[in-house]
Amino acid sequence: MSGHVVCLFGVGVWLSSRQSPHYCTSGYQRVHWSAGQAELLLNPTKTTQPEEAHRNMGKSSGGAHREMAACVAVVLGLLFVAAVAATAAVSMDPAEMEALFLVMEAVSSDRDWRSENPDPCGAPWPGLECKPDGDAAAAPLRVTRLDFGVEPNPSCKDTAAFPTLVFSLSHLQSLFFVGCFKNPAAATALVLPPAANLSSSSLQQLSIRANPALSGVMAPQLATLTSLQVLTVSQNGLIGGEIPQGIGELTSLVHLDLSYNALTGQVPTEISELKSLVGLDLSYNSLSGPIPSRIGELRQLQKLDLSSNNLTGGIPASIANLTSLTFLALSSNGLSGHFPPGLSGLRNLQYLIMDNNPMNVPLPPGLGGLPRLQELRLAGSGYSGPIPEAFGQLASLTTLSLEDNNLTGGIPPGLSRLSRLYHLNLSNNGLGGAVPFDGAFLRRLGRNLDLSGNAGLCLDDRSVVRDIGVGVAACHAGGDSDALVAHGGVTGEGAMRGSVDGFQFRLLAPACVVLSCLVALNEYV
Ligand SMILES: *[C@@H]1O[C@H](CO)[C@@H](O)[C@H](O)[C@H]1NC(C)=O
Ligand SMILES: *[C@@H]1O[C@H](CO)[C@@H](O)[C@H](O)[C@H]1NC(C)=O
Ligand SMILES: *[C@@H]1O[C@H](CO)[C@@H](O)[C@H](O)[C@H]1NC(C)=O
Ligand SMILES: *[C@@H]1O[C@H](CO)[C@@H](O)[C@H](O)[C@H]1NC(C)=O
Ligand SMILES: *[C@@H]1O[C@H](CO)[C@@H](O)[C@H](O)[C@H]1NC(C)=O
Repeated sequence: MSGHVVCLFGVGVWLSSRQSPHYCTSGYQRVHWSAGQAELLLNPTKTTQPEEAHRNMGKSSGGAHREMAACVAVVLGLLFVAAVAATAAVSMDPAEMEALFLVMEAVSSDRDWRSENPDPCGAPWPGLECKPDGDAAAAPLRVTRLDFGVEPNPSCKDTAAFPTLVFSLSHLQSLFFVGCFKNPAAATALVLPPAANLSSSSLQQLSIRANPALSGVMAPQLATLTSLQVLTVSQNGLIGGEIPQGIGELTSLVHLDLSYNALTGQVPTEISELKSLVGLDLSYNSLSGPIPSRIGELRQLQKLDLSSNNLTGGIPASIANLTSLTFLALSSNGLSGHFPPGLSGLRNLQYLIMDNNPMNVPLPPGLGGLPRLQELRLAGSGYSGPIPEAFGQLASLTTLSLEDNNLTGGIPPGLSRLSRLYHLNLSNNGLGGAVPFDGAFLRRLGRNLDLSGNAGLCLDDRSVVRDIGVGVAACHAGGDSDALVAHGGVTGEGAMRGSVDGFQFRLLAPACVVLSCLVALNEYV
């Protein structure tokens, strides 16, 4: 059949070329353009082999001259290309193509997908990728990537429904729904097919993000998507329920992000079986119970974020084994108790973000041994006792937030030597004594310095109180700074203007205090 078509085509070309010797030069365009018709003419299940075509062509044209032979060869080549393309297009599995169209129709109204893209893998749109299923020349194309929601990918219609059928695309490797299900009036549920239907899935990346109208749970069938390397189900405020225990079976997972949903229950201890995990983010949910004690088995972990949940208990000692950790965030939970000693062995830690937990212990000096630490946030956690002098060794530190605790004693002079520090908040504690910062330090931090709400702190140079409102009064001889608090302002906001250039702030010197006190009283009383 296909041989006859090629034969007839060859005769046609030969006849045309006799009338117009230049046909061959424009032939490429014609043949290329007619690929659609070729698709209809050629037997869809057979690829025309060049030898067969050549044989047929040879018969029909009979001993042509050299120019003609070249022309025929070119046409044959083009026909072959057209035939392969046509075969590939129609060789997309019909069931898969139908499933793809149903998915597109359920989610997107950007166009009439069926009529405008009858050959999805042959002429893919942004957000769609196909790959041949195997190495054979005639391998059928399979859908490997589908991406909805963000330009230039197909946008989601107002009535988009979560297309469970998408999981029947068995060669799909990446699937994205980003900002897709947003209409509260058309809430739709994340529904997964039964486990048996998912077990052959090739999915490596599943990203369901920023879909405020998507409800449902993390179904147990998720555990059967064992090819997954990246699982993001994030910012879908209606997705609740518990994290399935079976999640421990997704042993290829490298990134797991379930943040900003409404997940409840405990962090399953099985999560510690995800040995390849580099990033784990469960922040902003309603998870309760302890941090699994086996969390330290996630040896590859670089980022751990469990912020803003209802986790209780202590920080597990095994965290000391997370030696690759660079980012640890445990803020806004119910965590309490002592830091495990091994925490100070996390040499790669750059961010320790742990505000708002009822820790109610002294600050551990061991944190001063974290050489790469850039941000240390331990506000609002009932820490008592002094700020460890060892914090002055945190040479990489840019941000230190210790506000809203019960810290007492003086500010360690070592903090003034932290040359990268640009944000220091020690407000609302019980700190006292003279502030050990010089003019250069105060200028550098400017409005990012907040010492307010520490009744016992004072500056030993009156002019600082006047020109820089760091929230601290000038020191009195008796250490009672009440008289000046009102003038000192609340924070450093707007106060650093360079007017302090040239001032040198020194440690408390009794003579200076007496003098400044006298001058101050003179001026303000
Ligand atoms: C699961 O697979 C079976 C058999 O392949 C099929 O009949 C059924 O429709 C599938 N169910 C879903 C929800 O995809
Ligand atoms: C934590 O638990 C308390 C009481 O069980 C509840 O009122 C609160 O909403 C929870 N917080 C979060 C963030 O889930
Ligand atoms: C770290 O891992 C080792 C080996 O698994 C284990 O013996 C040790 O107890 C762990 N350390 C902590 C603090 O849990
Ligand atoms: C400080 O301690 C007192 C009692 O010792 C307590 O009432 C207060 O709530 C604590 N403040 C903070 C911020 O933890
Ligand atoms: C310091 O912390 C307090 C209390 O949380 C906050 O109000 C203030 O804005 C912070 N100051 C700076 C400079 O960040």
